[in-house]
Amino acid sequence: MGVQIDVQGLSKSFGRQTIWQDVSMTLPAGELSVLLGPSGTGKSVFLKCLVGLLRPEHGRIMVNGVDLCRCTESERYQLRKLFGVLFQDGALFGSITVYDNIAFPLREHTRRTEAEIRRVVHDKMELVGLAGAEHKLPGEISGGMRKRAGLARALVGDPEIILCDEPDSGLDPVRTAYLSQLLVDLNAQIDATILIVTHNISVARTVPDNLGMLYRRRLVGFGPREILLTSEEPVIAQFLGGHRHGPIGMSEEKDAVLAAAEGTWTRTLPEIVPQLEPSPGLPVRQAVRRRQERVRAMLAVGSVPR
Ligand SMILES: Nc1ncnc2c1ncn2[C@@H]1O[C@H](COP(=O)(O)OP(=O)(O)O)[C@@H](O)[C@H]1O
Ligand SMILES: [Mg+2]
Repeated sequence: MGVQIDVQGLSKSFGRQTIWQDVSMTLPAGELSVLLGPSGTGKSVFLKCLVGLLRPEHGRIMVNGVDLCRCTESERYQLRKLFGVLFQDGALFGSITVYDNIAFPLREHTRRTEAEIRRVVHDKMELVGLAGAEHKLPGEISGGMRKRAGLARALVGDPEIILCDEPDSGLDPVRTAYLSQLLVDLNAQIDATILIVTHNISVARTVPDNLGMLYRRRLVGFGPREILLTSEEPVIAQFLGGHRHGPIGMSEEKDAVLAAAEGTWTRTLPEIVPQLEPSPGLPVRQAVRRRQERVRAMLAVGSVPR
């Protein structure tokens, strides 16, 4: 079962530029979560903070009782092994085969034999539906397959936490739908905690158990899909509905002006679409059972958790 991550009061800036501040959220163990946000809101920066590649100035990131923001190098090294990351561009080496790309972390960071590596690589390629593409170069396969290769590489260390940076970027709606299904299927099979950052509305509406949104340097709500998908918070409702009418404008600068006019929007609630189920033949997602009680309790008191 995946590991829970508690983010508390996290703030990150570069020099005088504040990227986001006071971000708090809990990623429940083994659940699928999506963090939405328009381009440039610091989604990639957030993921890099979670894996310890960037250091936030304030706040805590608790994983297994250790604060990633304040731990020793050896603790950080140990925690890093819990994570698998699918970077935004897939981050594959163009000059080596898909097989060698996926084997790379094992050859670099473990003492596994080539026979063991072959078993793991084939296993992960199978898991992401990439069997048969071993000898291709990244440039010879489609964008969707490159994402799958990046995902297979993120899986070779058997991570408890998988972070995906815009897995849909550059994909058409059909390939995006396939990738969404793959992430749900993966969750059913390995029960890892998964966080996907994206600005894709259909991914946000169909994939996650939990949903949050970064906007104007803040986290605007984070919680179970049942609550966020029916949120009357104008920013969330506008983004999920994909409307022009609302506080989000053409640019961040104009948003500040629009925000001053707050309260004048018609709040059309986006409809709740059903969450994707694992493909036939796959196990039931463990997270579904685990979260039932928690979400029922939240709905009962009508609280929108932050
Ligand atoms: N290493 C860095 N140094 C300075 N500024 C950075 C760095 N990484 C990202 N930024 C800035 O942080 C902001 C958010 O970037 P990013 O996380 O890539 O946004 P998103 O992924 O949501 O599109 C951007 O303004 C970007 O220029
Ligand atoms: Mg990004």
